[in-house]
Amino acid sequence: MTLALAEKAVHPRFDHPDLHSLIAPRDPLWTPRELNELTSAVATDFRTRLVDVVRFASPQRWWTRLALTDEIELWLLSWLPGQGTAPHDHGGAAGAFTVLLGDLTETYRYPAGPIRQHRRPLGASIGFGQGRAHIVENRGPAKAASVHAYSPPLVPTHEYANLSDVPDTPSWLTR
Ligand SMILES: [Fe+2]
Repeated sequence: MTLALAEKAVHPRFDHPDLHSLIAPRDPLWTPRELNELTSAVATDFRTRLVDVVRFASPQRWWTRLALTDEIELWLLSWLPGQGTAPHDHGGAAGAFTVLLGDLTETYRYPAGPIRQHRRPLGASIGFGQGRAHIVENRGPAKAASVHAYSPPLVPTHEYANLSDVPDTPSWLTR
C-alpha cells in the first residue's frame, strides 16, 4: 500500500530529524532485526520525551502512534499493573518491541509451534517474524510502557480466545 502524503505522519512531539532519520525509507518490508533496532533506538534516544508523553488509562489501555510511513508504523503503549492484550497475531506483519518502563510478560506461539513465555524486563528488546501470535501483559507491581514497530504498516491484527486456537496455517498465509 502506498500512503498519500497527508497520511504519513509523525507525532508532533517526535517531529525531530533524528526520528525522521530512523524511519527513513529503506525497504517495503523491514526485517524483525531492523524493527528491533528501530524500537531500541527510539526507546534510548527519545527516552525523556517518551516518559513525558506517556499516559496511563483504565479500563482501556492508553497508546499513541509515534510515526507512520509506507514501510513501518511505530507506537508507544502503556500498561498499568494487570493490563494486557488478548491473544493476537499481527496478520502477517513482522514486529518488535522494547520495554521503556516497568516489566512485561510475553506468552507467544508461532503457527504449529509450542507456547512459550518470557519475562521482558526493563530495556528488553525483541523482534519477531510474521507468524507470531502473542499475549503481552504487565504482571508486575509497577506501571510499564513499551515502544512497538510493525512492517508492513496498517495490517489488521487477529484476536484469538487462546493461543492454542491459532491455526497451523493462518488465513494470511494462504492469501
Ligand atoms: Fe502484538
